[in-house]
Amino acid sequence: MNTWLLQKEGFDPKDAASDGNRFLCANGYMGLRGVPEEAGSALFPAVTLAGVYDQYQDKWREPVNAPNGLFVRTYFNGQAMTAEDGSPRAHTTALDYRHGIYSRKTDFAAACIASRRFVSMASPHLLADEYQISFRQDGEMTLEAGISCDLWDINGPHLFDYHFQTGETLTASCVTGQKKIAVAAAQCVQADFDAEESVRQDETGVFRVFRRRVRPGETLTLRVFAAVYTSLDTVDPADAARDCCRQAKAAGFSDCLRAHAESWEKIWALSEITLEGDEEAALALHASQYHLNCVAPRHARNMSIPARGLSGQTYKGAIFWDSEMFFFPMFVYTQPEIARSLLRYRIETLDGARRKAAEYGYRGAFYAWESQEGGEEGCTNFNVVDVFTHRPVRTYFRDKQIHISADIAYALRSWYEITGDRTLLREGGAKVILECARFYLSRANGRLDSERVDFADVIGPDEYHERVTNSFFTNEMIRHCLESALLLKEIFADQPAWFAELLKELDYEKDWALLSVLRDRISPPQERNGVIAQFDGYFGLEDCSLDTVRSRLRDPREYWGGDHGVAGVTQIIKQADVIALMALLPERFTDQQVAANWGYYEPRTEHGSSLSACMYALTACRIGRLDEAWELFMKTAQIDVLGGGKQWAGEIYIGGTHPASNGGAWMIAALGFAGLRMRAGKLSVNPRLPRQITRLSFPVATGGKRCRIDISHDGAAISQL
Ligand code: BGC
Repeated sequence: MNTWLLQKEGFDPKDAASDGNRFLCANGYMGLRGVPEEAGSALFPAVTLAGVYDQYQDKWREPVNAPNGLFVRTYFNGQAMTAEDGSPRAHTTALDYRHGIYSRKTDFAAACIASRRFVSMASPHLLADEYQISFRQDGEMTLEAGISCDLWDINGPHLFDYHFQTGETLTASCVTGQKKIAVAAAQCVQADFDAEESVRQDETGVFRVFRRRVRPGETLTLRVFAAVYTSLDTVDPADAARDCCRQAKAAGFSDCLRAHAESWEKIWALSEITLEGDEEAALALHASQYHLNCVAPRHARNMSIPARGLSGQTYKGAIFWDSEMFFFPMFVYTQPEIARSLLRYRIETLDGARRKAAEYGYRGAFYAWESQEGGEEGCTNFNVVDVFTHRPVRTYFRDKQIHISADIAYALRSWYEITGDRTLLREGGAKVILECARFYLSRANGRLDSERVDFADVIGPDEYHERVTNSFFTNEMIRHCLESALLLKEIFADQPAWFAELLKELDYEKDWALLSVLRDRISPPQERNGVIAQFDGYFGLEDCSLDTVRSRLRDPREYWGGDHGVAGVTQIIKQADVIALMALLPERFTDQQVAANWGYYEPRTEHGSSLSACMYALTACRIGRLDEAWELFMKTAQIDVLGGGKQWAGEIYIGGTHPASNGGAWMIAALGFAGLRMRAGKLSVNPRLPRQITRLSFPVATGGKRCRIDISHDGAAISQL
């Protein structure tokens, strides 16, 4: 079995949404969905841009899909040869995870189309495709290769004022509706055949048209080079895009492909986990690492990663806590510069978080639940549409999921603890932690003189239970955030003047004194037989099985949470919550506590979020439930191989790739199975290898140096690289 290759036989338009995700190519700057070159908008083609957002009318703000410069469609005797309606005899799609190459082969009666393409890891604006047709019959061929503006948008359109330029290079220039960001796509080709050439342009785009008579046995090859730039990258995006594809054409397809593949080799040298003993698992781990690595912002220093990567506009292209909890670990241990970029994004969007806190009448930093550019909140008050009434449902993720600020502070502190590096804290990280802590002080609303401070009206990670009091996860993360703020003084003990200046700049003197007061007064959780209540009153809710709750659904797409949701009145939870906390702060809990809570909560967890299984797997490793850990690992790692995960929340489509699971797979393998831990650049391992794995080997970056960890059932070794 090739553990680097995902392959699918056959073509069914019904699978287009899922396959577009599974066969995604991306490079952090943009993502190209895995659909055939000729796909029209019905098959959801998209070149999704990272960090470029737009709002159309009063719909949701979402990332912008650029015009698609790799569009190619062939007609034979006037008949379109398309995978969807050209009645192919056979169709194969493949994705080479090692080098990020998508390929397809479609066999029609008259000809066979084969192509391979990539989104360059070596050159962030470049996409390239090698498209080949081998004819079996005599006839007239028309081949159109151009820039398609027939875009799939969930809440669009977003691009207006199209302007086309033709010549050796085609260009489509346009601007976004809201902020008038200029977006330009350019395309040039290299054809190894003669043909009568012309250009067609209309509202669907600008295309070169090649016409010629073809004979059986003839193979024609077209190499397409396309580029995308926006005015966020450069002052003249059209010019830059043209230059980029001209240079690529001059270098040639093979050279561009070589550079791209070499970049991927470097990424794998830094991050690959080799898993032996189970090939399905090895494939799933490669898939997970591919999907997370391909959306990493390597071209920027201050960007994060959307919850659905660059697989489209789902979840508004927004940055969630997924970044800090699930993406950050793989990067901090393998490619720290990317982890630093994720955190810099938060540092640079501090003002957005301050604005959000102020909007709700609080001080400090309340980060956006769904953060877009500048930290702008993308989450609306109505984030789900009811399947029965078709009415938007009031959801409270935006205003009540206050743990988000503490999650960010947690990652900043982890950065310091893992790498030993203080510069990020000096360069804004410390300020973020202090401002997050201040938000909780002000959320405590002057109740600091009472013995116990409750945090009421919140939502923990389990979103099915809204507006609860004393969410254990939330309270403990707040406590951790307050401790982290206090710890800053020790971290900068050798720079007291700088630290005093920082407190002065933030006008923090009074708040500083309150940090420890709140830390010590946050209400303790309710407990029963060693099980911690997820929130006050949790044990009083109906205790029924997951199957019972599922049987109450009247529509499979029904939303389980909120006022009318089937889960809200029961103890069934959406995702790891108490257990997530135990995975994040393991030293606070004994093995017995973890075991008791795991045993109680796991059967009551729907795992309705792709973030859930990973947390249960990590804690399962700790308490020796290795069979369950293995099962949860496979569930996590296979998600984008199989195209699984929830597709709907009410009437809202939430499909896409799952970077949180992708990062989760790395976490289970490295932090769970190998028991990797790094403190101030010092590594240790504590293996808990499931029987299915015979060997696990992976590199880790430690303070400028690199190590390799090797784990087998015979023992563990750490060697310098
Ligand atoms: C989960 C959140 C998560 C978001 C994005 C939701 O379904 O409940 O915890 O941040 O998806 O992945």
